[in-house]
Amino acid sequence: MNEPAPAERIAIRTHNDIVTARHAAREHSARLGFGRAYQTRLATAVSELTRNVIQYAGEGSCLIEGQNDADGCSIQVTVEDHGPGIPDLALALADGFSTSGGLGAGLPGTRRLVDHFQISSEPGLTRVVIRIRKAR
Ligand SMILES: Nc1ncnc2c1ncn2[C@@H]1O[C@H](COP(=O)(O)OP(=O)(O)OP(=O)(O)O)[C@@H](O)[C@H]1O
Ligand SMILES: [Mg+2]
Repeated sequence: MNEPAPAERIAIRTHNDIVTARHAAREHSARLGFGRAYQTRLATAVSELTRNVIQYAGEGSCLIEGQNDADGCSIQVTVEDHGPGIPDLALALADGFSTSGGLGAGLPGTRRLVDHFQISSEPGLTRVVIRIRKAR
């Protein structure tokens, strides 16, 4: 059984931090034995969520936690910020919705890439929790 790397919290303030978070997600998943396709899915999801943090909230954080359990392993990533929040989550999760003239693909695309996706938002706290999982 591969041992997970210790939990890692990355402050998200600049575009460089997006790259750091993306690499860290890839490394954590590789270490637990996730294949390349899974690593890329998680890295892409982390890069979309952290890009949103910079774009809409200015700054935030990204926490990466790997774990083994009885019948498999998982990586959970929590991306949060203290920005203005998302007024209508259903709308924000719809393909093509963007308040910035973007593609509106970040949140719905991320949701499709991972095994678990949970989002909550209010003014002052937006939190997205994602997880990929692998059975042994
Ligand atoms: N952390 C956040 N804080 C506040 N609003 C957010 C946050 N993340 C997303 N949003 C809102 O949800 C909308 C949809 O986000 P999503 O990432 O899907 O698309 P986008 O960022 O507009 O375009 P792109 O396809 O380039 O990511 C955003 O336009 C923005 O209004
Ligand atoms: Mg986006």
